[in-house]
Amino acid sequence: MKHLLSPLDLSVNELDELLDLARDISRDPSRYSHCCDGKKLATLFYEPSTRTRLSFEAAMLNLGGSVLGFASADSSSAAKGESVSDTIRIISCYADICAMRHPKEGAPMVAAGKSSIPVINAGDGGHQHPTQTLTDLMTIRELRGSLNDFTIGLCGDLKFGRTVHSLINSLIRYKNIKFILISPKELRVPDYIREDVLNANHVEFEEVEKLEDVMPLLDILYMTRVQRERFFNEDEYLRMKDFYILDPAKMALAKKDMYVLHPLPRVNEISVEVDDDPRAAYFKQAQFGVYVRMALILKLLELDKKEV
Ligand code: NCD
Repeated sequence: MKHLLSPLDLSVNELDELLDLARDISRDPSRYSHCCDGKKLATLFYEPSTRTRLSFEAAMLNLGGSVLGFASADSSSAAKGESVSDTIRIISCYADICAMRHPKEGAPMVAAGKSSIPVINAGDGGHQHPTQTLTDLMTIRELRGSLNDFTIGLCGDLKFGRTVHSLINSLIRYKNIKFILISPKELRVPDYIREDVLNANHVEFEEVEKLEDVMPLLDILYMTRVQRERFFNEDEYLRMKDFYILDPAKMALAKKDMYVLHPLPRVNEISVEVDDDPRAAYFKQAQFGVYVRMALILKLLELDKKEV
């Protein structure tokens, strides 16, 4: 049985197939509306979420399946002290597949070890967020036509931003991608990303602090929010939170065909005036998130080869 715990659980070929299926779904989602008749998805969310949880639920409903679950640790037996391992054993009796978000790094992996249904990591602490990466990859591929040959700037909280860690891990497998890591020095990528992922794979990257300086070089700008909930100290968060604000003046420095992505939620890091710029792709990205999750559910339930 397959789980999705890290973006690297899928080979590049499997990823291509998944993104092809997601594209096919996006062209006519109604063709897939009975693929999961009778199947159930459980969403086990121990941390807040809007897009990830609801896009998973929308994805399963679009496929004809049903959903059950909880949206916070307080409303589950975790509040009584139940372990993730016990919870997943129980959920395995109730559902066919589950998506889990947890504040502790590795919790979905622990769950997968005890589960008899596929477990999808929907975000574990500051570690990984593989289904956001699938969404990001689909967005880049649909907008640019390919996942090779571009320069991407990742900007903001690169230390705690799990979407950034998963995206870098995944993109290094494609050809001729240059990474520009834009962050204050306090929020640079963790050492394991710099050493074990980028340097170990001889990937070209630079680390800079000023967004304006690199704007003209970028094909993709991936903005992120400063991850307030992972700071030890509120004053430090307040000092960092408005470090970057993407506004029309900065957009004027960029290429005409650059795209801005953001996993959302946005706080202040993209001014709302940028939303009307045709290069702002973050709301489209959220829509792709539903199609790619539909494709993932079909793949993990091994329903992807079924005729529609
Ligand atoms: C991200 C997350 O939860 O890591 N949100 C999401 O799933 N789209 C990004 C964030 O919270 O900043």
